[in-house]
Amino acid sequence: MFGQALARSLEVEDDVPSSKAMSMFSQLSPTTVSFLLLSIIFVLIKLANRTDQPKIKGLPEIPGVPVFGNLLQLGSDHARVAGAWAKKYNWPVFQTRLGNRRIIFANTFDSVKHFWVTNQSALISRPTLYTFHSVVSTSQGFTIGTSPWDESCKRRRKAAATALNRPAVQSYMPHVDLECNVAIKDMYKDSKNGTVDIDPRKYFHRFALNTSLTLNYGIRIDGGIDEKLLREVVHVERVVSNFRSTSNNWQDYIPILRLPFISRQNTDAAQYRARRDKYLQTFLDMLKDRIAKGTDNPCITGTILKDPEAKLNDAEIKSICLTMVSAGIDTVPGNLIMGLGYLASPEGQEIQKKAYEEIMKVYPEDGEAWEKCLYEEKVPYITALTKEILRFWTVIPICLPRTSIKDIEYNGVTVPAGSVFYMNAWAADYDDSHFKDPTKFMPERYLNDQEGSGTPHYGYGAGSRMCVGSHLGNREIYTVFLRMLTAFEIVPAQDKNEWPILDPIECNSIPTALTTEPKPFKVGFRIRNKESLERWIKESDERTKHL
Ligand code: HEM
Repeated sequence: MFGQALARSLEVEDDVPSSKAMSMFSQLSPTTVSFLLLSIIFVLIKLANRTDQPKIKGLPEIPGVPVFGNLLQLGSDHARVAGAWAKKYNWPVFQTRLGNRRIIFANTFDSVKHFWVTNQSALISRPTLYTFHSVVSTSQGFTIGTSPWDESCKRRRKAAATALNRPAVQSYMPHVDLECNVAIKDMYKDSKNGTVDIDPRKYFHRFALNTSLTLNYGIRIDGGIDEKLLREVVHVERVVSNFRSTSNNWQDYIPILRLPFISRQNTDAAQYRARRDKYLQTFLDMLKDRIAKGTDNPCITGTILKDPEAKLNDAEIKSICLTMVSAGIDTVPGNLIMGLGYLASPEGQEIQKKAYEEIMKVYPEDGEAWEKCLYEEKVPYITALTKEILRFWTVIPICLPRTSIKDIEYNGVTVPAGSVFYMNAWAADYDDSHFKDPTKFMPERYLNDQEGSGTPHYGYGAGSRMCVGSHLGNREIYTVFLRMLTAFEIVPAQDKNEWPILDPIECNSIPTALTTEPKPFKVGFRIRNKESLERWIKESDERTKHL
């Protein structure tokens, strides 16, 4: 009855003047008009609340508003807001609407374990997001970490995992020796015998980028921390990474924002894509040129390019290069910078004392620690410190998103295949039902961990698409801290205004960034033994001069 009235009222032929329609409308009773208007509003609200996937029956939903869903409430602080909802409603897992997309958030250690680990074969794919996949990635393709699961992704992930497994990582340690030595040498020099406080960020950017470039292309960027190409790559990769962030790009969720006259992001994304293409092509051309001349250094892409049996096509090789350049460039420095910031704080002095004693117990001889850390990981306290740094700063607070390829059961609810999941890794790593005093920085919590005894934290994500660079990341963090702690006493900066913010969310200079970008701060270095340090640096120089 109402359908017919609506249909009749909308049946206005093109050539009928609007006044005729108006007069038809005026003939309707006030009740019918109100009914019609309410119905239209109802339909519009329905349309404005529509999501790519229907509401999941039985799974709690956070109420939102039309068009935006929960985006306005989440603001620029997705991890903390979602974590607070989980606590307020006592729902570890809930569904949300971000614009027109239905997203499930998991917010506790155990709920993440359930979906990401227990059901890892179901939670193996990744969603595509408009800005990154349709604008930024049109030239170089997707990284491994942004690829939906298919045969090609499987091949690329396997190639990267083989290139980054334990024995492979061990073979890269001479490069870690070199980059770590260069970083410490420059910090030592720039701190002018401990008289000048240092902002550590650029030293660790160079450390991470050069390690990635050496592993992937067999090249490194020589020169100081302000070298132009180094700064360009670090800056562009950071901006591109934010185009991937699940909290930075509303146009991923609200299609109307993609219109050219509304979206600035598309223009920016295209510009950054072009800047990135330029250096990626330069690096690849340099490697190909060296291979042609027979002067190339062993590296991941070189091995693939030279292998006639390699089953990877050009696009896949590009994807691996892209992954290798981008994957460690923010994550490794984020941990090193904030870890150092903590050690420099008044609270960090006790931890340094303990760490130094533990290192000296294992390596009492002068210079032993500096060299042996390249071959072995024998100081449990530094291994525990590495884990605690990764947990405490969880530098990708909302982990890279996942899509399920099979139904998953959760507390009697069937979550259908094709659902999109965000791991609130920050909330899970601060879950007080799993971690004792989670807001306290305590390496001791990991001291009695057995190897392989489950996921210690979600800093590297978890399950079937967990970080494939975790062995390398661990070895890098372990080596840097073991060496820094034997070289220096790390002390608070003389000016209190330059002390770091240690809160894992507040320390981030771009709240909507995918990966934590530490706010600037400074630390002081007191050299433990000048003569010894200079000798260790010289020995590293000697060991790595052929690289
Ligand atoms: C401390 C340093 C690092 C941290 C904290 C980190 C963190 C992460 C996280 C949270 C993920 C998402 C995992 C998931 O969805 O469960 C990831 C994925 C990934 N990471 Fe790392 N990462 C680090 C270093 C590296 C390095 C050095 C490389 C390679 C050189 C690397 C390569 C990758 C790749 C290829 C993926 C995608 C895996 C996939 O989608 O199958 N990461 N990383």
